[in-house]
This record gives sequence, structure tokens and C-alpha cells, in this order.
Amino acid sequence: MTVKEVFETMTYGPAPESASEALAWIAARGGVFGQFIDGRFTEPGQGFESRNPATGEVLATLTQGSQTDVDAAVKAARAAQSGWERLGGAGRARYLYALARLLQKHSRLFAVLETLDNGKPIRESRDIDVPLAQRHFYFHAGMAQLMEDELPDRAALGVCGQVIPWNFPLLMLAWKIAPALAMGNTVVLKPAEYTSLTALLFAEICQQAGLPKGVVNIVTGDGAVGEMVVAAEVDKVAFTGSTAVGRRIREATAGSGKTLTLELGGKSPYIVFDNADLDSAVEGLVDAIWFNQGQVCCAGSRLLVHEPVADLFYGKLRARMDKLRIGDPLDKSIDVGAIVDPAQLRTITDLVSANTAGDKHVASTALPTQGVFYPPTLITGLNPADTLMQEEIFGPVLVSTTFRTPEEAVALANNTRYGLAATVWSENINLALDIAPKLACGIVWVNGTNLMDAAAGFGGKRESGFGREGGWEGLAAYTRPKGTPKALKDIKPNTGAGAPADPIDRTAKLYIGGKQARPDSGYSAPVWGKSGALLGHVSLANRKDLRNAVEAAQAAKAWSKTTGHLRAQILYYIGENLSARADEFAHRLNDMQGGERGAKEVETAINRLFTYAAWADKYDGQVHGVPIRGVAIAMKEPVGVIGAICPNDAPLLGLISCMAPAISMGNRVILNASEPFPLAATDFIQVLETSDVPPGVVNILTGTHSEIAPHMAGHMDIDAVWSFGAAPLCDVVERASASNLKRTWVNNGLARDWLGAAGQGRDFLAAATEVKNIWIPYGE
Ligand code: NAI
Repeated sequence: MTVKEVFETMTYGPAPESASEALAWIAARGGVFGQFIDGRFTEPGQGFESRNPATGEVLATLTQGSQTDVDAAVKAARAAQSGWERLGGAGRARYLYALARLLQKHSRLFAVLETLDNGKPIRESRDIDVPLAQRHFYFHAGMAQLMEDELPDRAALGVCGQVIPWNFPLLMLAWKIAPALAMGNTVVLKPAEYTSLTALLFAEICQQAGLPKGVVNIVTGDGAVGEMVVAAEVDKVAFTGSTAVGRRIREATAGSGKTLTLELGGKSPYIVFDNADLDSAVEGLVDAIWFNQGQVCCAGSRLLVHEPVADLFYGKLRARMDKLRIGDPLDKSIDVGAIVDPAQLRTITDLVSANTAGDKHVASTALPTQGVFYPPTLITGLNPADTLMQEEIFGPVLVSTTFRTPEEAVALANNTRYGLAATVWSENINLALDIAPKLACGIVWVNGTNLMDAAAGFGGKRESGFGREGGWEGLAAYTRPKGTPKALKDIKPNTGAGAPADPIDRTAKLYIGGKQARPDSGYSAPVWGKSGALLGHVSLANRKDLRNAVEAAQAAKAWSKTTGHLRAQILYYIGENLSARADEFAHRLNDMQGGERGAKEVETAINRLFTYAAWADKYDGQVHGVPIRGVAIAMKEPVGVIGAICPNDAPLLGLISCMAPAISMGNRVILNASEPFPLAATDFIQVLETSDVPPGVVNILTGTHSEIAPHMAGHMDIDAVWSFGAAPLCDVVERASASNLKRTWVNNGLARDWLGAAGQGRDFLAAATEVKNIWIPYGE
């Protein structure tokens, strides 16, 4: 097109970015790449091609990693780890800062290479992916600098295995590598097979920064290599990708002691109210679903429109869609680029063509004649249960339905197995901030969308995975408490014989929904004292009792809406009532466990109740200063229903150490009491009954942990499970939790000093809360 023609037609002229530097970079390496292990590139091995999806041209040949490569990478990372950690936060900060500077220095090369490899518009890689990746390294250079002062009790985890997807190749690398390195870990990272080139360029800047060898290792290859990284001798696995693979990784790492974070898929609602600035909301949708061709885990892919404005809004939206420019991603005035790979195009095409419901509008702009492209598409008039309303399409396809009331909007928004993000568009601040806390997700954007920053934790709940990336909370995933815990001792129940001291039958019941309940099984078991005397009988709970307890806990939802002040009052009251019966509990504990430690345990338990009463109105959220015209308010929300397998040692204190932080933060709990010493828990039921605890907030089951644990971890209406019971339960709990990808916290077979500082504190509060980041406009 000539300049004259551009002026005559007033269409966009071509504004191509040159690919020559990036292609020269590839050519200078012979177009073939090995792995980056122990600070150097290996000889290229058996390979696979990496193509430019916009043209189909082969860009480079990459090496399919082998078991030997993964082993070598993990060995190098292990060897480098202690030296890297000993460098100290300030020492590591220098390297992270150098990496940030080098990313900045080579930003154009990174942006062009990313666009060539992935197909995303250069405008996005240049203005979003690369700057956000730099920002992540700068931010975490600061976190390294502050670590010793601000996190004095935390240490590195060790070696981290990290597997990332193809939709934001460099940015996901930054999200994984920067916090890991900042906290003193070393990494083995596997980029996605479609998009490994910027990771290999990053390896080169690690060399330029003089990063000690082995601190960063990059192995390329497909999912099989990802599996090897997950299975390797690493201390932590961090994964971003599909929910299906995330679930497999949850199962594969169960019981291994590896910590795990999963950042998975989404089907995020985009809610437009009748009082929204509709033109802005249309523009927002361009960023929500056509950004990166909709291949975004937090894409606003499910449009919910207020009925009174639906026709008007859809009209505006269709008109805007028809103006989107689709084409060569290296053209700076392109809105929509290429889909990452023909395989992904097939997935999108298959999903959309199987749908017969609703009305489809396809953007009228012509598609390029070559390359992997899919047109921006809108499907309106769908039912909430339609496949396209439920399944992640991961393409430029927006699906929609309407709602009548704000309540209906919330119900539709939450009608998904995912819970990553949500967008609310309304000029009424009251309405927007009334809706935000009701949305089941980790991020809410008000009058904006797809905003991200290193200072604000990113991540979701439900089947969108667990853990946060960025912010202070993101660091938790890369640290552990300092110290070397001892192995957990196996505690056997006492044995004995003979008749009870008191001939009246005392079979302790379960506590479900505020009532004492007989077990469904009809079975009970004797509890013997240390001396061999029969102390009483305890009910053996089964799956049915657990189900009843979950129902009761779900029905007690109102607890999560109570104020911290009220919850504090109730926790103080429980403490006061326990204190009134302190001697009786101390005797009971001594009878069961032997010795004279009962009084100390009771005193500590009372103190712990007071501690969490104190915390109930003080574990505040934060306001993050993010570099946009706005702020991100990080709210601490209750997780929901938490199931806890309570410790076998410290039968009263252990139970209270699980219950108190959970209910203090607004959760409802199902507690499976100490298996060998259950009677302190059943005595405690009477304390609860006299302490104004609403029915269903605390439920107590007794019986065998191995009977309850798999059902607890597999139950779809339990949001998190803590397991402080015997070591083999860790495997059971983590494996079964894959059902709905609930959060788990297991002891990994390690002992905890329940009487000491490790028995309470911020780790418990963090496990009892979800952070929701609400981005709101603020200031100029
Ligand atoms: P994927 O989840 O299979 O791939 C992501 C990464 O995991 C890649 O590096 C891959 O090599 C690796 N991987 C695959 N199988 C593995 C295994 N068994 N163990 C360890 N690592 C493994 O994603 P895929 O197949 O490329 O895309 C399929 C769908 O996943 C998309 O249509 C989309 O719905 C979703 N997806 C979601 C992403 C997100 O950010 N939430 C990112 C990429 C895909």
C-alpha cells in the first residue's frame, strides 16, 4: 500500500516491526539450540521444530530433553543452591537487578522474538509482556534485598521445578524465576514446547549477568519432559497451564513432600451493568478476550450483560469487533495476531463448531490467507449450562448471556468450576463494591480488566488452582520456616482390659450442626487410659457422618460474613469456658497420655484461643500501589469450609490450634479429632455448646483418620484440608484433593511443637485465608 493510497482510503497503513535482529540472533546460533544446564548450553540433541504461527515458517530446532538432561539440570541446581542462598538477600538482589536491567536493554529483541515464536501482536509483547517481566525482576530484586529484615524466620525451599505454558512465555518465566531466586532457591525451568526461544535468550542474559552457574537451568521439550521435572528430586513444583495437567501433577506429587503451586485455567465472568459506561466496557472487552487472541487464563471470556442494555451493548460490541485488525503480529497496528499452533486452533474450532446454541457473530475483517488465525467471535443467548459457557476455549471467542438483577449476576458469575478472575463494569461504586466480595475468585477488576503487576498477588481458587504469584503472598510459595523439624512419632492408642471405673455407659457422640449425633455406622470403640483403665467409648464416624458435617458447615455460611469483632468475642468466650473446666481437662489429658503435662496443654490451649481472638480483627489486608491509575486492594477472605485431621499428640491443644485460626478468620471447620486420644475433643463439645458458637461452624468427628481423610480430601464442598495426622495421610490427602483441586496443608511426616511458637501464628492465618485483589480506579 502506498502512502497516497493510505491517505485516500484512510485505512491503516502497514507499520511492520523488523524481524531481522531476532532472526539474526537465531541464525548466529545455527538455528539449533541445546539445553541450558550448569551455566552453559549443551550440544543440541534430538530435536523438534519451533515455528512462527503467523507464517508457518520454521524458526529454530530445539532439543527434546532427556532424563539425563533433567537429572543433570537438577544436579546443577542442587549444587548451586546453598552458595546462592548464602550469598544473602542483598547479594542476590544485585543479580536480580542486573537481570532486570539486561531484560530492559534487550527489550526489543525479546519482544520481537516473542511475537515471532508465539504469534501475539508486537504491541502486546513490546508494551505488556516484556515490561511486566522486567518489572517482576526489579520488584523481586527488592524482595531479596528486604528478605533478611522482613522475613527473618524464612529460608529457601531448595531446588524448584517449574513448568510454564506458551501464552506468556517470557512473562511466566519471570513470574516463576524472579521470586524463586530472590528467596534463595535455584531453578530448573521447562518452557512450553511451542515457545521456548525467549527462555533460551533469557539463559544468555543469565550468562551476561554473571549469574553463578546452576542457579538457572532451562530444559526444553514437551509434556514428557515436564513430567520428568515434576518427578525429579526437587523441593517445589510450580506449574502454570491447563487444569487437566495441573490435576495430574497434584496426583504425581502427592505424598512426596514437594510443595506445589498451580495456576490453572479459568472462565472468568465479565459483568456489565446497565449503569456502566458502555463504550468503555466494550473497549475493556477488547482487552479481556481479544488480548493475546483470548489465550489468557484470566480472559474475560464469559460476558454477562444486564438485560435492559443487552441489545444496545451487543450492537456496540459487534460494531467494535468488525473494526478489529487481524493479521501480521509484527505489524504495530494489529489488534489480533496468530493462534499459537495449529493444535490449539483445532481445539478452538472443534469446541465452537460443536456448539449449536445461541447466535454467533464473527468479526467481518478478512483473515490472512496463511498462518494460524481464528476470527474474533461472539456467541450470545447461551444458557449457563451450555458447554461453551463452562469450558475454557482459550481462543478469541466470547460467550454471553444476560441477567436481570445483581443477585442473578453473582449467581451466574459463580456458576463455574473455576475461580480465577472477574470484571465488574458499573459507574455505581456502591454496586461494584457490593458485588466484588461476592465473587468466588482471586482477582476482581472494577472498570478495567486484565491488569497485572508484580506487587499484587495473582491467582485463584477452586479449579483455577492455588497459590499466588507476585506480592508478599507470592513469596510464601518459595520459602519455608527456618529450622529442621524432627520426624513425626507414630502414636499408638493405649490398650487395656476390664470394666469402666464408672458403670454408666459413656459413649461420646459426634458433634454435627451444633448437635451431638450418633454415628451412622452405629459403631464405637473403647478408649483406654495410659494405666490400662477404660476411660469411655468413642463414636466411629464414617463417610455419611462426614457428609452431614459438610452440609452443616455449608449451611453455616453466615459465619463468614460476621465481623472480626464478633468472632473475637466468641473465641474469648470459648477460652473463658475452657478455663472454668481447666482441671477436669488436665486430668483427662493426663489419663489418656500419661504424665503430668495436661495442665500445661490446657493453659496453652486457652492462651491460643485468646491469641486467635486477638487476631480475628487484626489480620488485615493491604493496599498495593500498582503502576496504573488505581490501587489493588488485597482483601483477606475466609477459605470457606476447612477439614482438619487433627494431630494425634496434643489432643486438646492440637484440635484448638486447627479450629481457632480457622474460625477466627471466618471459616467453618470439620475437625477429625486425635485418633488415639479422642476424649478431650468430645469433652470440648460441651464447652462449645455453652459458648455461643453458631451451629455448623465447628463440627467434630471421632474415629479413624484413614477412614475419614480420603473422603474429606475428595469432598467437592470442602475448600481446604489440613492434615496433621500420621505421615501416610499426606499422600492420601494430597492425592484425593485433586478431585476439586482444593488447597491442602500437610505435615509431610514432620513433627510440630504444638506447645511452642510453631503451633500458632501467621502460617495458620495464611492457610485460613484467601487473598482477593480488587483493582479499583483511584486518583488521577
Ligand atoms: P498444557 O497444560 O498441556 O501445557 C502447559 C505446560 O505443561 C507445557 O510446558 C507442557 O509441555 C507441560 N506439560 C504437559 N503435560 C505435562 C505433564 N503431564 N506433566 C508436566 N508438564 C506437562 O497446555 P496445552 O496442552 O498446551 O493447552 C491445552 C489447554 O490448556 C488450552 O486450550 C487451555 O485451555 C489450557 N491452558 C491454560 C493455560 C493457563 O495459563 N491457565 C496456559 C496454557 C494452556
